[in-house]
Amino acid sequence: MCAQKTVLITGGNGGIGYATAAALAASPAYHVIIGSRSLEKGKTALAKLSSKGSVSLVQLDVTDATSIAAAVATVEKDRGRLDTLINNAGVGPTSPSLSVELLRNTFETNVFGVAAVTDAFLPLLRKSLDPRLIHVTSPLGSSTLRASGAPLPPFHTYEISKAALNMLALIHRDLFKGEIKVITLDPGFNATNLGGDPEAMRRGGGGDPAKAGEFIKSVVEGKRDADSNKMINEGGSIPW
Ligand SMILES: NC(=O)c1ccc[n+]([C@@H]2O[C@H](COP(=O)([O-])OP(=O)(O)OC[C@H]3O[C@@H](n4cnc5c(N)ncnc54)[C@H](OP(=O)(O)O)[C@@H]3O)[C@@H](O)[C@H]2O)c1
Repeated sequence: MCAQKTVLITGGNGGIGYATAAALAASPAYHVIIGSRSLEKGKTALAKLSSKGSVSLVQLDVTDATSIAAAVATVEKDRGRLDTLINNAGVGPTSPSLSVELLRNTFETNVFGVAAVTDAFLPLLRKSLDPRLIHVTSPLGSSTLRASGAPLPPFHTYEISKAALNMLALIHRDLFKGEIKVITLDPGFNATNLGGDPEAMRRGGGGDPAKAGEFIKSVVEGKRDADSNKMINEGGSIPW
């Protein structure tokens, strides 16, 4: 079996996903697959990283069953197995609206997309000797924080979707116990395209995603395996 571990990052063309790809590519221990729904954006990311390490690209729209199936076939053909799947792709928060349409759209990526991609890649994860499944969530999905009355920004569809993702992650943890390590993490507040305006996020205190990338790399390395019962962040954990 190839010693180099294969890591697939959904939404790996930008923001935290790209930063994670860059951090992992710097280590010869990993082959990084950038999952990108836009081939154009994916090729730009690949061009920036290919001189830095072992990196490839796969088209992957987490809301599209055909795209997911094709990505599984490509990874199987090229790598034979998957050691770590990072469910990073996400949308919102862009509006305080609680419309059913926005809720449904947000769930398509943040919840159903994670469920579908995980399900599809399970056979390849099961071929790994040390498989890891990493879910990227947010403190805005913490039911405990909302119940406590803590002041929270009003991005309700995003909050609901990440709360649902947290439960999905816990169920994955239980279903795959003894087989696949499941880690749920908050990458911290980072200036990215997530809210549609990285500059505004930076002004609001959003950090450099490179730091989040290093944190997620440490999780891929197994440094937080003992914390699979928690929603972890860089400094500790957040209540569910
Ligand atoms: N930034 C923060 O402060 C923060 C805090 C807590 C949690 N998070 C979480 O971190 C993750 C990454 O977010 P980010 O901040 O890096 O945001 P970002 O810069 O907007 O990146 C999101 C990534 O997800 C991709 N994506 C969206 N919908 C997709 C789909 N249907 N299929 C495949 N890829 C899709 C985007 O692709 P396109 O380029 O094609 O849009 C992009 O690559 C998200 O799960 C987010 O909820 C972020």
